[in-house]
Amino acid sequence: MTDPHSPPRRKPKPSVEKLAGRKLKPATLMMGHGYDPQLSEGALKPPIFLTSTFAFESAAAGKRHFEGITGKRSGGPEGLVYSRFNGPNQEILEDRLSVWDEAEDALCFASGMTAICVLMLAFCSAGDVIVHSGPLYAASEGFVAKTLSRFGVTYLDFAAGADRPEIEAVLEQAKAQAAKAGGKVAMVYLESPANPTNALVDVEAVRDARDAVLTPDCPIAIDNTFLGPLWQQPLRHGADITVYSLTKYVGGHSDLVAGSLAGAKRWMDPVRMLRNTMGGIADPNTAWMLLRSLETVELRMQRAGENAAKVCEFLAEHPKVEGLGYLGMISDPRQQDIYRRHCSGAGSTFSLFVKGGEAESFRFLDALRIVKLAVSLGGTESLASHPAGMTHLSVPQERRAKLGITDNLVRVSIGIEDADDLIADFDQALKRV
Ligand SMILES: Cc1ncc(COP(=O)(O)O)c(C=O)c1O
Repeated sequence: MTDPHSPPRRKPKPSVEKLAGRKLKPATLMMGHGYDPQLSEGALKPPIFLTSTFAFESAAAGKRHFEGITGKRSGGPEGLVYSRFNGPNQEILEDRLSVWDEAEDALCFASGMTAICVLMLAFCSAGDVIVHSGPLYAASEGFVAKTLSRFGVTYLDFAAGADRPEIEAVLEQAKAQAAKAGGKVAMVYLESPANPTNALVDVEAVRDARDAVLTPDCPIAIDNTFLGPLWQQPLRHGADITVYSLTKYVGGHSDLVAGSLAGAKRWMDPVRMLRNTMGGIADPNTAWMLLRSLETVELRMQRAGENAAKVCEFLAEHPKVEGLGYLGMISDPRQQDIYRRHCSGAGSTFSLFVKGGEAESFRFLDALRIVKLAVSLGGTESLASHPAGMTHLSVPQERRAKLGITDNLVRVSIGIEDADDLIADFDQALKRV
């Protein structure tokens, strides 16, 4: 029996992460990790905590929390304080997200772009240089080139497939550029596979180049939206921070927008401080939906991956198809080598080059009946879009040409429908090109 005089327990029961010497797999941990039903009237699933603020046990406890939040004391707040900083649904989500990347800590955000912008703002000061791989998702490139530049932050980029000497040369140039402006190389920011070309970045080579040219204080962040969390674990290959648009595979049902970061506390702490100030944390309802999504993320991604392999096998032989940018069919030996070292699956998002140009691509897109014409990816349903005319329209024409974002490139994201139904849809739409 509980002692009626003892204070109610506020600290959750420790999660079971190991059993009989076995480290439990993420798929198992997604069902309960970080949640103690006894703290919520025994509810098996976490309720949605719709509250803007949290009652302190005492004035002294409130002061201690704020000492943690403001950085006067290390270790952060010891409990929940205010919903711009955190909440139960978001904390459980962050605990479960860090499981997938084997990260010490994770942070969730209202969108992938919020995660990216707050991350960059947390590490960059005037005079600093960001080095990034190219291409990036257009809004990420735009934030660096058009917004950060207004605050005295410049950038240099290297092509996604660059090798170590090429990356080192760009880092040396960035170091000189930063020294001239009185700043530092603040961050190496990668996206792999790149949106929309699917070009892979050699994360191990980037790590080696960073270690040779810069100091370990310059973090390597990588947008892992296309293959994560299942098919690529960049922290194992030398990245410091993983970045996600949770809107995509993790959310997985095209019904929410959210983002996240994961990495060591030393990298997450400055970002958390800025998020505390700016806001931008995912709301409790979205965090709850993501907890539900995480229970099936492995199943969904596996099925989508199997479907994509079958669809691409069909498309590769089709006379109206000029080529495919699919990670399961890489012909370039350098890209193949990166794939072999970094990826455990080819994903379900790929580029389809239709024979012809914009007119042929549009006819194909307009003829699809099952596959929906929409931007985004990683949902249960298959989607197709035209990057040159949609997501990457803001990218200048010469840069689009240099990056291979051509007018006949259609980006496809395969979902979890029946693969033969999808093949029938692609077949009938290609006949109408
Ligand atoms: C690779 C990649 N990163 C980041 C984002 C931005 O995420 P969000 O739309 O959740 O802000 C996207 C969106 O399409 C993306 O494809």
